[in-house]
Amino acid sequence: MADPEPITVLEALHSTPARRYLKPDPIPDDVLWAILDAAIRGPSGGNSQGWGWVVVTDPDVKRQVAEWYREGWEAAYGSRRDQILGEGAAGDALGRRNFLSAEHLANHLEEAPVWVIPVMERAAKSRNPRAGSSIYGAVQHLMLAARAHGIGATLTTLYAGHEEDTKRLLGIPEDALTMALIPLGYPSQGRWAQPRRKPVEQVTYWNRWGETRGR
Ligand SMILES: Cc1cc2nc3c(=O)[nH]c(=O)nc-3n(C[C@H](O)[C@H](O)[C@H](O)COP(=O)(O)O)c2cc1C
Repeated sequence: MADPEPITVLEALHSTPARRYLKPDPIPDDVLWAILDAAIRGPSGGNSQGWGWVVVTDPDVKRQVAEWYREGWEAAYGSRRDQILGEGAAGDALGRRNFLSAEHLANHLEEAPVWVIPVMERAAKSRNPRAGSSIYGAVQHLMLAARAHGIGATLTTLYAGHEEDTKRLLGIPEDALTMALIPLGYPSQGRWAQPRRKPVEQVTYWNRWGETRGR
């Protein structure tokens, strides 16, 4: 395995945007193992680790799930393309550049060499609104570990209109819940740029909701 890029944790946190333009080049198994081994260091309530990480490389499975994903994309964004991109359009929180990259991913999802689908056991009927907090920390670990190896990732969910179909296709237990689909691959374009966000001073409240402070 080539040494991962030497980068501090904070540098990585500030330079890991969604990477949706990916090369089809394979990811070596030892790199994939290293990424997954970093992911599972993430937190879960009571260290319960009620999860499984499904690695998908099978082209037939990817082709089928990608079709389901594109249905979700069309319903959520594709059908609003002109409204989002058109001249004088009000746009969308996603922004023009992210729309185009998300559209690209939707059209090329199956070309990413590896997908990881984090699954929470026994969560399908969970009424705990915080259930996801026992896996999304680990999911972020996965994306940061990938970044250290120069591999791009995006947390996606647009396949989830076909949750039951996806579970059946992958042999995932009925009472489990897929929590995301993360395509991984070496980036073909774009940069490890700092993600754009509202200013931290605007979204940080001190002692009481709404109480902001200057930095
Ligand atoms: C719960 C969740 C669901 C998401 N689903 C999708 C998705 O289905 N497809 C996609 O391209 N990006 C998806 N994203 C990625 C977001 O669009 C992305 O995190 C956001 O635009 C910020 O991007 P940036 O970090 O590159 O600035 C999802 C992110 C989250 C947290």
